[in-house]
Amino acid sequence: MRTEQKSTYRVAVYPGSFDPVTMGHMDIITRASKQFDLLIVAVLNNLSKNPLFSLEERKDLLRKVTSHLPNIEVDGFRDLLANYVREKEAQVIVRGIRSVTDFEYELTMASTNHKLNPDAETIFMMTNPKYSYLSSSLVKEIAHFNGDTTDLVSPEVDAALRKKFNEKAGL
Ligand code: COA
Repeated sequence: MRTEQKSTYRVAVYPGSFDPVTMGHMDIITRASKQFDLLIVAVLNNLSKNPLFSLEERKDLLRKVTSHLPNIEVDGFRDLLANYVREKEAQVIVRGIRSVTDFEYELTMASTNHKLNPDAETIFMMTNPKYSYLSSSLVKEIAHFNGDTTDLVSPEVDAALRKKFNEKAGL
């Protein structure tokens, strides 16, 4: 028997620090954008992490590297993720898993978010194994020592990293 399905607008939030966005994040953003009507990439204004890029710079870079994707909104947040997701009327939180070491932390986070907002479901996507070792800190360290980050980040991010470290070095 065929049942009538109610059409709903599916909104997901992909949260993170994105300091800066890497190819690993891009892999998740690209794949997740195909699963939802709107994917909100939400940048945490996390003062405790002492970011290299300001919140505005991180959002600008994310907007540039996702400009080819039609259903992405880039936003910043400083609230509890569970509250932010409710405020945005999103149904899903997307998180990428790179390895088993990510899993324990992600499980705790998903359970906490579920407790705080039972209406939101956390969905995990396996990061492409090509990027399973990658992190924003690693990219920053390579760029700091003038190493090649071209395969790890988009050209816009690569240029921003060079500029930032040249400025820091007073060049
Ligand atoms: N590919 C490559 N690298 C990835 C990746 C992927 N798919 N996914 C994550 N990473 C890296 C990031 O670059 C980052 O590297 P870094 O530590 O060197 O900067 C690291 O993995 C962790 O990244 P991220 O996913 O950005 O997590 P986070 O720990 O910085 O932030 C939040 C997680 C923002 C989702 C979480 O802290 C949060 O929700 N905070 C809001 C407050 C709150 O609600 N707290 C209670 C939550 S239970």
